[in-house]
Amino acid sequence: MTPLIDNYGRKIEYVRISVTDRCDLRCNYCMPVGFKDYREPASWLTFPEITRLVKVMSAAGTRRIRLTGGEPLLRRNLPDLVASLRQETSVQDISLTTNATRLTRLAKDLKGAGLDRINISLDSLKRDKVEKICGRDVLDQVIAGIDSALEVGLSPIKINMVVMPGVNEDEIDAMFRFCRDRGLMFRMIETMPMGHTALEAGTVSLQPILEKLRQDHGLIPLIAELGGGPARYWQTPDGKIQVGAITPISQHFCATCNRIRLAVDGTIYLCLGQEEKIEMRDLLRENPNDDAIIGDALARGIHLKPERHHFREAPEKIVRFMSQTGG
Ligand code: GTP
Ligand code: 5AD
Ligand code: SF4
Repeated sequence: MTPLIDNYGRKIEYVRISVTDRCDLRCNYCMPVGFKDYREPASWLTFPEITRLVKVMSAAGTRRIRLTGGEPLLRRNLPDLVASLRQETSVQDISLTTNATRLTRLAKDLKGAGLDRINISLDSLKRDKVEKICGRDVLDQVIAGIDSALEVGLSPIKINMVVMPGVNEDEIDAMFRFCRDRGLMFRMIETMPMGHTALEAGTVSLQPILEKLRQDHGLIPLIAELGGGPARYWQTPDGKIQVGAITPISQHFCATCNRIRLAVDGTIYLCLGQEEKIEMRDLLRENPNDDAIIGDALARGIHLKPERHHFREAPEKIVRFMSQTGG
């Protein structure tokens, strides 16, 4: 099968798959309170449809899959999807990004099904602040979820902190210590203006924060590949903690983009910050036995992938919420 290479010479080897657009939380930068514009389940890809698509993609070079949402653990029987991706496709790395509210129940089954690693969203260590950001008082539940993931050996575990002005900037040191003490990787993220509430949440440049962390802890840059995503990494001289930064606003990484996103209704979004897409659902359903047609549609569609996002120049442009494509 033709490798998926776009017009800018970028090879696509990482596919983020949203398995639901629903969520049990309402983090303000992702899915606003009252948001109900969910896709109907009949339009959702089934597990066999997702697995088939991933098989075709892996024949064209996909090496990594990340399951996202909304909140992926709300999709019923998710460990079954992990198992079929593991058994029926040749992807090497299967990971998940979750809010961890259901992880105590699911960590063991996910590990048993073949999940390699997990990233967990946690923006604050203060109960009231978590409630304010996410709409529910879930800090204890999330920490219990993190502990379950550690217990079953779903590591490395990355903690994702979206840093917001006047909200949680003051908790960088506390989050750093929390992660170091538990053996977690600590990642900070600049808010991307996906939808009006993310725009309102505002963004903080991570550059001065990184400079301070580097000075305080003698962080040294890491060149090792710690995932397939856009983060840059550092670690303390004793190697006890890795710190990552995702800086779409202050220092974008589009030139090395290696990924596309599959939404739950079968739409492939070619860039997080642009609208170009390939519609796969009807094609999959109308051609149940012809994988070559699916491969051709992907190979043609990949040329629509834009060079980069314009979050900085046109922050109000993307009206799609993050929850629809899972980051
Ligand atoms: P690994 O490196 O494989 O661990 O994963 P990741 O960091 O790509 O995944 P995760 O779901 O934890 O995402 C962390 C942050 O990176 C989220 O805010 C995502 O929206 C953001 N992100 C991931 N891929 C892209 C991308 O292609 N463009 C932009 N702008 N942001 C991205
Ligand atoms: N900007 C940056 N990161 C975001 N996430 C959700 N919405 C945004 C946004 N607007 C993060 C979540 C999760 C990851 C998939 O994306 O915190 O960890
Ligand atoms: Fe849900 Fe994750 Fe979005 Fe928060 S960031 S609303 S937990 S999908």
